Amino acid sequence: MTSILGISGSIRKESFNTKLLQAASGCLPDGASLEIFTLKDIPLYNKDLDTADKPEPVQQLIDAIAGSDGLLVASPEYNYSVSGVLKNAIDWASRPAYKSVLAGKPAAIISGSAGPVGGARSQLHLRDVFSGTLTPVVPSQPLLVPTVQGKFNEDGTLADEHTIRGLTTYLADFVQWIERLA
Ligand code: FNR
Repeated sequence: MTSILGISGSIRKESFNTKLLQAASGCLPDGASLEIFTLKDIPLYNKDLDTADKPEPVQQLIDAIAGSDGLLVASPEYNYSVSGVLKNAIDWASRPAYKSVLAGKPAAIISGSAGPVGGARSQLHLRDVFSGTLTPVVPSQPLLVPTVQGKFNEDGTLADEHTIRGLTTYLADFVQWIERLA
């Protein structure tokens, strides 16, 4: 079983990026599972707190990443970049530099945004950040969801067939790539 850890860069209750992760659960290939970790309790990074005895939510995040076979990050685009919430969590998980749980951990990036480019700029920034943490990103066509606010049913399920097909293909590529790397 390939276990994927889903992380949303948005902690608001009705986050479309979190809903994209929930939808991803239903688009996985056989033999893969997805667990979503919320960043809502992660404190702001402070090196004074980054000791052997880390804040509990931070340790839980690190353990969850370490125990997964790959990360699926759903990133909102905030002012052409990733959210501070996401960058903050990556900073916590990135220590010790180059030897953290993020080093070598296969990652995939999806993004939904209100604008017409689906968070493309945030994805580019996130790839840059992941190059700093030595986190490889799946070489696949990007999964971008523009005008994401129009893509869900009232009950929060994904309604857009094009996005469902894109997610299914992207996740199949991701899981196959993880298996090849292993
Ligand atoms: C945004 N939004 C936004 N959208 C976009 O396409 N490009 C951008 O640069 C930004 N910048 C931005 C900054 C801030 C501070 C906020 C709050 C919002 C809109 C954003 O795409 C929209 O709110 C999404 O719904 C956010 O994702 P979640 O919270 O729904 O997952």
